[in-house]
Amino acid sequence: MVASTDRVASEIGAEILRRGGNAVDAAVATHFALAVVNPEAGNLGGGGFMVARVANGTTASLDFREVAPLRATRDMFLDAQGNPTNRSLEGHLASGVPGSVAGMWEAHRRFGSLPWADLVAPAVALADGIVVHARLAESLQEYAARFRQYPASAAIFLREGRAPRVGERLVQADLAATLRRIASGGKEGFYRGRTAELLEEEMRRGNGLITREDLARYDAKWRDPLRFDYRGYQVISMPPPSSGGATLAEMLNIMEGYDLRAAGYLSTRHAHLFAEAAKRAYADRNTYLADPDFIPQPTARMISEAYAAERRSSIRLDRATPSEAVRPGLGPTTVAAIALTARPEGEHTTHYSVVDAAGNAVAVTTTLNSLYGSRVLVTGAGFFLNNEMDDFTAKPGTANQFGLVQGAANAVAPGKRMLSAMTPTIVLSPEGRLRLVTGSPGGPTIITTVAQVISNVVDWGMDLPAAVGAPRLHHQHLPDRLYYEHDGLAPATAAALRALGQAPENRAGYQGDAASILLRPDGLLVGVADPRRGGAAVGVEGAAKEVVR
Ligand code: DON
Repeated sequence: MVASTDRVASEIGAEILRRGGNAVDAAVATHFALAVVNPEAGNLGGGGFMVARVANGTTASLDFREVAPLRATRDMFLDAQGNPTNRSLEGHLASGVPGSVAGMWEAHRRFGSLPWADLVAPAVALADGIVVHARLAESLQEYAARFRQYPASAAIFLREGRAPRVGERLVQADLAATLRRIASGGKEGFYRGRTAELLEEEMRRGNGLITREDLARYDAKWRDPLRFDYRGYQVISMPPPSSGGATLAEMLNIMEGYDLRAAGYLSTRHAHLFAEAAKRAYADRNTYLADPDFIPQPTARMISEAYAAERRSSIRLDRATPSEAVRPGLGPTTVAAIALTARPEGEHTTHYSVVDAAGNAVAVTTTLNSLYGSRVLVTGAGFFLNNEMDDFTAKPGTANQFGLVQGAANAVAPGKRMLSAMTPTIVLSPEGRLRLVTGSPGGPTIITTVAQVISNVVDWGMDLPAAVGAPRLHHQHLPDRLYYEHDGLAPATAAALRALGQAPENRAGYQGDAASILLRPDGLLVGVADPRRGGAAVGVEGAAKEVVR
């Protein structure tokens, strides 16, 4: 089964399973398909993370996060007065060296079973021309005004200045040529030769920093997956340079000390405990976590039960701890206590989940960061570049586009990976059987979304549609707000939370897009595309029966 934000991409992944490919083969095909049919987030010019569990029990996590170019410097996004600029978000300086193609190549090299070219071929066919479906038409329409400012993007994605409508044909010829080079040349088809030349030319045109040397040096890295238990369930998630797994672990470990069921679902007590756990976990995240190849990471302690108990000891049931009073707990440091309002954000990353007939499971979250990334499209190569440099700390104590106030550990340095919140995650039952494959877009809200999907299944026994569909909460330490999706908290509950000293705020729009797969105890696979964004979970007939065995 493949669950993704786009039906066409899920169908392509499922077709690979039907042809006898395994979950990694299907993930690779889904990834390249998303780069064509979901160009806002699916990508060649971005990066991401994969968590995999082979049916024999082997687990792996792959880091294909972008890195800062060799010519990057710590203060490159500050103006003459030392204040952050928007250059980390828009234009050529905003891009890290892309990791996605290297990631897919490496995942396939280690685990793939079908020929590489066969996994890229469906995406080539899509780039040669697709009939525009509703999901794509809506996205292009929504951002048509943005494309008009970028001629290279407008030439591909607009006709006579307007977005293509449902049923019209969209041809991405340059992208098809790039994908053909990747199909035949593998990783080198992207990081060397014509594609690398086009990318370097684009950078030169826009005074960007990425060179062919940066591209040639890029490598995806295997890391030890981050593992912890939640109420007996085994959680396998992403270690740094994603903050996802460690922050998820601290949050869930803190929550494990309370009888949530006695509190009642989305009750005042439940939301209060969620917010208190999140404040503490994000305070640590924002201060300590960064690229482990540059900064020693306190993850072992951060995810320990003992540390969760220490963090719990400062939680009061009758009063919220204000964020200023929640200090990072893993060592001496100072954090500027400033209240900020998060800038509005959309959901521009994408997550897909795959389980094959043998029970192999793959969770991938990948992104350009903002919608359509830096909005710079590599002329002649047909793909958008990321604006992941904004995930670095441009200046300690100031907020990035997600309102995240991060520390010096995550400062820009050449060759360094910027801290992420992406949280591709696999959950096993207490008996060690595959139970849940999940993840989501949403910047910092990714971690709280994944925490709730897991808690909904483990604590509340929800089936997958309910666990994914339930209204979501979010807190990220700063700003000191408890966000909730529209109508997610009853007015009386919001009032009671306010009386406790929480700051509940109705979030405009939705939180997350958690395309997930659950293996029920009776052996049935259930897949869900998050109703917030659509897409599809596509199952392959007969697969569920085999997983039962
Ligand atoms: O890596 C990260 O945490 C972010 N660049 C993810 C961005 C994202 O999810 C965008 N969607 N809101």
